[in-house]
Amino acid sequence: RPSGRGMRIVNWHDDRLGLAKMGKENLRKVFPDHWSFLLGEIALYSFVVLLLTGVFLTIWFKPSMAEVDYNGPYQLLKGTPMSEAFASTLDLSFEVRGGLLIRQIHHWAAILFVAAATVHMLRIFFTGAFRKPREINWLIGLGLLMLAMVEGFAGYSLPDDLLSGTGLRFADGLMRAIPLVGTWVEFFVFNGEFPGTAIVPRLYMVHILLIPALILGLVAAHLTLVVYHKHTQYPGPGRTEKNVVGYPLFPVYAAKAGGFFFVVFGVLTLMGTFLQINPVWKFGPYNPGEVTAGSQPDWYMGWLEGAVRITPNWEWHIGHTTWSWNIFLPGVCLMGVLFTLLVAWPFVEKWITGDESERHLLDRPRNVPTRTALGVAAMSCYAMFWLSGANDIVATHFHLSLNAITYFMRGAIFVVPIITYQITKRICVALQRNDRQRLLHGSPSGEIIREPNGAFHEAHVLVSDDEAWTLTQHKTYPVLTAGSIDDRGRKVSKTRARWMKWFLGDNAPKVTHEELEAARHHAEIGSGRSATQAEITD
Ligand code: HEM
Ligand code: HEM
Repeated sequence: RPSGRGMRIVNWHDDRLGLAKMGKENLRKVFPDHWSFLLGEIALYSFVVLLLTGVFLTIWFKPSMAEVDYNGPYQLLKGTPMSEAFASTLDLSFEVRGGLLIRQIHHWAAILFVAAATVHMLRIFFTGAFRKPREINWLIGLGLLMLAMVEGFAGYSLPDDLLSGTGLRFADGLMRAIPLVGTWVEFFVFNGEFPGTAIVPRLYMVHILLIPALILGLVAAHLTLVVYHKHTQYPGPGRTEKNVVGYPLFPVYAAKAGGFFFVVFGVLTLMGTFLQINPVWKFGPYNPGEVTAGSQPDWYMGWLEGAVRITPNWEWHIGHTTWSWNIFLPGVCLMGVLFTLLVAWPFVEKWITGDESERHLLDRPRNVPTRTALGVAAMSCYAMFWLSGANDIVATHFHLSLNAITYFMRGAIFVVPIITYQITKRICVALQRNDRQRLLHGSPSGEIIREPNGAFHEAHVLVSDDEAWTLTQHKTYPVLTAGSIDDRGRKVSKTRARWMKWFLGDNAPKVTHEELEAARHHAEIGSGRSATQAEITD
């Protein structure tokens, strides 16, 4: 226990908070380093920026739909009737010092936040970081992503301009299309018929209190689990399933992370300064009878918008009820299906492989070709929906027929994922075979050697020990047939055998220890150099 002048106050606090022990245990915790681990951090830091700028906005924003006549400095809207929410957003933009800057930083941070969380999720997916013991963190992450999208939607609905009202109208359509209870849900949410006068104050409570609190709680749980599980690491020299190679949290990682926060904040500030976003004064106040041409939601809502735009106008009338499949299917069902698939994936994969051990070493995407191909197919499907959400913009920019684009997209959402799946899978398998080839035969050196008998051959350079470690350190699973017993003693069902074949069937065989030894031995005799040892783990 430290003593001396000034330490009494430290000890006084430590007696009550016990922070010294906790710090001692955690400050030297090792974090592995890789650029892709910054994605989660970008999400985290843009959330902090959202909290900071959001608090500033609350000071001036008035969450009220009471009607006022605009009397501010923006001449084009002078005297126009509008809600107090819209008028206060105009005041924030034109009269509050720094208001427009903070509004724009807030909006750019929202866009970055959802984008970073999405790309972070892709990183987790493609590297298999969702495997045991991180399944719960995967689920928490999905909860965060969903909340982030709803939070962003609630945010851009607040200013009550023509664009935000159009977005709300869209959400109103989704609610109404829920069979049987749709109208009731609409009345419940809007306190009567759309748009009413309750939605902005309600969304305000959701936006500045309810969802930020939920996100904050889940982020805390998310990060606690990252510390508790320790971070995963990519395969590399000296890295195993049982260690973590990296820098200590304090001082190295803390300094890097702190610095990176300011980089993110700085970039967002530059964007808020130079790149205009959501110029609500150009759109005018909301009026349910108007929609401007080229209305586009923030990027993360584009896929839903697209789904609604390309679904045929299917509608049933049963008795006195209307079943609007044209909105219910693409809107409510699509969102449900996407999140169900994402929730289920870690458990589906575990059921196929039967792997019950903890996995702290990340997969190189090529080593799990089917998963990687599935991810790329899902991304391309999402992209097709997203593009469909901009069908009017595509039509006007490229002078194409809107109908032709819509028909094309109806096919593309099915066909493009199949093509991208096949191409990705073949690329992964080819890369696996290339790794195998390089491990066993080295890479061509470009050096042509003439032998004493006059023949020529090109010298091959064997991969280094370090690289051999990286190339061989991944788990492989056998493809079992129906009725056989897996290594946990469970009988493999017919269905599971079929899924195993699909998931694992095309993998290039992993280089065995014997094969590598033989290759090294061969190279040693051929080149006169000494053979090196490389570890093979599975
Ligand atoms: C790890 C933050 C959303 C799943 C991390 C890390 C941070 C973070 C800072 C550690 C660094 C890293 O690996 O990038 C956040 C924030 C989110 C978010 C602020 C959004 C609000 C998600 C989503 C998913 C997810 C959407 C997946 C569906 C995970 C997992 C880990 C992780 C499984 C552990 C990764 C490992 O150890 O390799 N998260 N995350 N997170 N995140 Fe997130
Ligand atoms: C507005 C997103 C958190 C307060 C907005 C807007 C978006 C947004 C997109 C529309 C901005 C515009 O006018 O162009 C988000 C996201 C958040 C978040 C994604 C967190 C994940 C917060 C928090 C607060 C806050 C924590 C307050 C404590 C506000 C206010 C407005 C607003 C008052 C209305 C002012 C305006 O539209 O200019 N938010 N926000 N936000 N946000 Fe947030």
